Amino acid sequence: QEGDAAAGETVFKKCAACHNVSDAKHKVGPSLQGVIGRQPGTAEGFKYSKPMMDFGTGKVWDDAQLTAYLANPRGVVKGTRMAFAGLKDPKDVSNVIAYLKTFPAA
Ligand code: HEM
Repeated sequence: QEGDAAAGETVFKKCAACHNVSDAKHKVGPSLQGVIGRQPGTAEGFKYSKPMMDFGTGKVWDDAQLTAYLANPRGVVKGTRMAFAGLKDPKDVSNVIAYLKTFPAA
């Protein structure tokens, strides 16, 4: 089921302390501009944890991977440096993914 990008913009406030999405500049976390379809752990110029880089081998951030990760980041990528407990409401997850889709790679 497709999320609502406008609702996802509000959800993204929980992410924005650590992530830019409208440009490629990294904060505490990597820029999420163009994250859809990107291999995990590969944004140019960001120093990822080894667990995130290992997780990324052979994968891309698609709906299924993001849905699992955003619900339980530290469960899905054990040892990730992303200090975020996850989004409890599945609607928030699909909405924030829809929002991320509105920022393709520049
Ligand atoms: C990594 C999304 C909240 C810090 C990531 C990645 C995604 C993501 C998709 C992997 C990026 C990639 O492979 O290039 C989100 C979303 C959030 C959120 C949608 C809100 C719902 C946060 C918060 C923080 C944070 C609040 C800081 C407290 C990080 C860090 C990484 C990361 C440091 C790199 C992890 C590593 O190398 O292990 N995030 N994030 N994120 N995020 Fe977040």
